[in-house]
Amino acid sequence: MSNNQSILTPDTVNPTNNTTNENNQAVRYPVITIDGPSGAGKGTICWKLAESLGYQLLDSGALYRIVGLKAQQAGLLDEPLDDEEVNKNELEDKLEALTKSLKISFIANPETTQIDILVNGALIGSDIRNETVGGYASKVAVFPKVRSALLQLQRDMANDSGIVADGRDMGTVVFANADAKIYLTASAEARAKRRVAQLEQVGQTANYQQILVEIKARDERDENRSTAPSRPAEDALVLDSSVMDIESVYQAVKKHCMDCGISF
Ligand code: C5P
Repeated sequence: MSNNQSILTPDTVNPTNNTTNENNQAVRYPVITIDGPSGAGKGTICWKLAESLGYQLLDSGALYRIVGLKAQQAGLLDEPLDDEEVNKNELEDKLEALTKSLKISFIANPETTQIDILVNGALIGSDIRNETVGGYASKVAVFPKVRSALLQLQRDMANDSGIVADGRDMGTVVFANADAKIYLTASAEARAKRRVAQLEQVGQTANYQQILVEIKARDERDENRSTAPSRPAEDALVLDSSVMDIESVYQAVKKHCMDCGISF
């Protein structure tokens, strides 16, 4: 895993996404995309791939979680989005301005096997990693202006090294020309069970039914939004991890990447 710090802001990114070497020749680094719903195992698989290939890891969900959390803190998500009183255009403009004001850095932390994230210089901890913030993320993620404010920033991560991109629209929109695409899914029930086990492992109590309802609500929003809905790219390998262990998933993903010309 590359240990570089990537400082990314929507205002300072390269507008062309072209990268050239010192001889001014075009350089293109390999891109692997892994899309699918939360809890299907994307995070673990992406980390393992990035580590064994020495690629950077793009956790695009974290970007939407950060925007969601900041939007909630700014009071922009107080009203339900389907409330007729909410002026959607005005809200979208405010969310776009908020997104553009954020300076986000990703730093790989080999000790924790996590990516440390700084937002405007402050370390964002595990406070974005809960289902409540996942819900805020999926609310802001329906707005095209928020998505486009994050688009170039995500593409620019592939300018310096190979990349493993984790998200919902990595293979369909952000890196439509990726070298290898995977869509990793699992039933909502299997994902809810995994989430409960994770929470119990860290000593938290978890309500399976409530988590299942939240997961289904988020899936519904992510799969049915008009811009960049969560769905497999036509050329993606679709894997259902409901009854697979993580090592079998990793081996299937690795084989697909090798079939697509990526050398390990
Ligand atoms: O993957 P994660 O659960 O962290 O993503 C949180 C939310 O962010 C998703 O439910 C989705 O609404 C949004 N998202 C997105 N596009 C991405 C990544 C995440 O819309 N590429």
